[in-house]
Amino acid sequence: MRIAVTGSIATDHLMAFPGRFVDQLLPDQLEHVSLSFLVDSLQVRRGGVAANIAFGLGGLGLAPLLVGAVGPDFAEYEVWLKEHGVDTGSVYVSCEHQTARFMCMTDQDTNQIAAFYAGAMAEAGRIDLRAVHDRAPLDLVLVSPNDPGAMVRHTEQARELGIDFAADPSQQLARLTGDEVRSLVTGARWLFTNEYESALLRERAGWSHQEVLDRVGVWVTTLGAQGVRIDRKNEPAITVGAVPDVRAEDPTGVGDAFRSGFLAAVSWGLPLGTAAQLGCAMSALVLATTGSQAYEIRPAALLATVRTVYGEQAAGLLEAKLGRPA
Ligand SMILES: Nc1ncnc2c1ncn2[C@@H]1O[C@H](COP(=O)(O)OP(=O)(O)OP(=O)(O)O)[C@@H](O)[C@H]1O
Ligand SMILES: [Mg+2]
Repeated sequence: MRIAVTGSIATDHLMAFPGRFVDQLLPDQLEHVSLSFLVDSLQVRRGGVAANIAFGLGGLGLAPLLVGAVGPDFAEYEVWLKEHGVDTGSVYVSCEHQTARFMCMTDQDTNQIAAFYAGAMAEAGRIDLRAVHDRAPLDLVLVSPNDPGAMVRHTEQARELGIDFAADPSQQLARLTGDEVRSLVTGARWLFTNEYESALLRERAGWSHQEVLDRVGVWVTTLGAQGVRIDRKNEPAITVGAVPDVRAEDPTGVGDAFRSGFLAAVSWGLPLGTAAQLGCAMSALVLATTGSQAYEIRPAALLATVRTVYGEQAAGLLEAKLGRPA
């Protein structure tokens, strides 16, 4: 099954300032602030929701297509993604703007000064899914956080082309209008939210829980350390607990890794509960590492986690699939 993962592709530049911002800001000079902070560390982390999800799917052997807009600075990141099984042939390269970038400085009090540059992401609406589909026929289009116009266009094109799509509006829900939310969700085979986003989505769309379920195939809501709940129209909800006792290092990217595991398993034809279990096991890997693409997918270790937490049957179902091409 070929999955196109559309959405943001970005890097995070994280700096640590070994002092306190408040000591540098002079209250009577705030009209002409001109400050330079000497930072003592810089970490560049690969991220962006679509790139994170594609990274996870690539590691699970799905050979996903990454669909998003980047700048001419993408070359190194592209090599990394290709090395991890991601097809980058449909990534749009802007000649005007750099790849989206989040720059954040944290001081000793963990106060932060940050900037997000959307850059090339603003051009993602120029991507034509029809051309992507012609190059590599698609079975599923995942619409993850991106330029809002691009999210709506990708969804409309998937509908026109008769390709199943999954709605993953996540953090962009805050910026989307009611019309946009309704358009992204209506007819989705899968809808992904976390618990907060589930409430925000209902509020934005002006729909009840049931009205959302009337319009989607399956609604997957992640519940942080509580795991995940899967809702379907006229069927009882399925709940799956998270992997317990994970030594949490950094939560960045847990939701993205969940989606990789879940979608890989459903593409292998496994039951929803098993898919959620693989999703939770993938999230636990990310949680235990710093960054969202710093984890390694080793099928044996992943199976061992599933066996310990969810039992022999779940591990048996996954054993036949993990690491093999879809
Ligand atoms: N403390 C935890 N221990 C174990 N697993 C966790 C924990 N927190 C999250 N997870 C796993 O990650 C999945 C996704 O978590 P969550 O609902 O917090 O996503 P999210 O809010 O979209 O996160 P983000 O957007 O920061 O990636 C959960 O379903 C669970 O499997
Ligand atoms: Mg999330």
